[in-house]
Amino acid sequence: MPQFNVTTPQTSYPVLVERGVIARVNAFLPAKCGKVFIVTSRDVWQLHGTKLEAALTGRDYAVLFFIGGEDNKRLAHVERMAVEMSEAGADRTSVVIACGGGIVGDLGGFLAAIFMRGIPVIQVPTTLLAQVDAAVGGKTGANLISGKNLIGSFHQPLAVLIDPAVLSTLPEREYRAGLYEIIKHGVIADAPLFDFLEANREDVFAQVPDAVDRIIADSVRLKAEVVSNDEKESGLRRILNFGHTFGHALESETRYSRFLHGEAVSWGMRAATLLAADTGLLDAPSAARITGVLNSYGPIPSTTGIDAGALQNNLLKDKKTIQKQVHFVLPTAIGTVTVQSGAPEGAVREAIQKALVDCQ
Ligand code: GLY
Repeated sequence: MPQFNVTTPQTSYPVLVERGVIARVNAFLPAKCGKVFIVTSRDVWQLHGTKLEAALTGRDYAVLFFIGGEDNKRLAHVERMAVEMSEAGADRTSVVIACGGGIVGDLGGFLAAIFMRGIPVIQVPTTLLAQVDAAVGGKTGANLISGKNLIGSFHQPLAVLIDPAVLSTLPEREYRAGLYEIIKHGVIADAPLFDFLEANREDVFAQVPDAVDRIIADSVRLKAEVVSNDEKESGLRRILNFGHTFGHALESETRYSRFLHGEAVSWGMRAATLLAADTGLLDAPSAARITGVLNSYGPIPSTTGIDAGALQNNLLKDKKTIQKQVHFVLPTAIGTVTVQSGAPEGAVREAIQKALVDCQ
């Protein structure tokens, strides 16, 4: 089964895509390992806890439960878990295992990043979105009332253990939300992956192991390469934000309640593709292929009632907007993107309007 390495100036770590890898978690703990703290949610623990417990037989470990949900991705929960850790005897040799979706991974990673100024974390992502995106690359953090992920830290894990078999229990809507991030990888840098997704939709939805393992592995390979080139997102890593500038505006306008993150990214990729086509960066047949694949992996919840002007204003509040310059990642072909600032406001408005109408 494939293994990829992320190498940053400070560290290098493996990302494994392997059915059953959860049973091998013990092998990835450091030689001098104190008490292990598993950060998870009760529903994930119910599904996968026995496997982790069996893997940690003979180890001193405790489970820290997180309630789950974007609303709870807050510093207060990080503090509460840090107190639980210190009361349970954690020290600098302790290790966190973050087992769950993207929120658990981000919060558990952040807890590890700041506990006693930093202890190791192993990421065991259990949603498709976390497996192909959030768990790889060391971004950790929590939300503020004023915005998502406004506090956090880069804290690269010791290892990322991806078990595609756990996806069989994932609700279909969440599975689809992860597939949109894989489509993103195809559009930004991997035309053969895009072609595969276009031609093999049925196998992907039926979770045929060869198909699922391949698209996860392709995504992880790409993410590992990008992060190894640009850990702190000063250049190349920005391409991973394709669909995110528009997508974040949609999530924020709908108060994070109507769309899953992957669904908002799907809509955002549509708007970015329309903008690229309208401004002459992308030819019409390629744009049609991208929107065609987005449609075939849909639908996303309806955009009815969402105001284009409000969305356009939200773009200015995006974390990646610098000095009022909105940065868009726009496709120039399938498998290539460019980062552009200063797109004409009229073209941006038109792309938003068309994308809203497409998804009503
Ligand atoms: N999710 C985008 C990144 O990790 O940079």
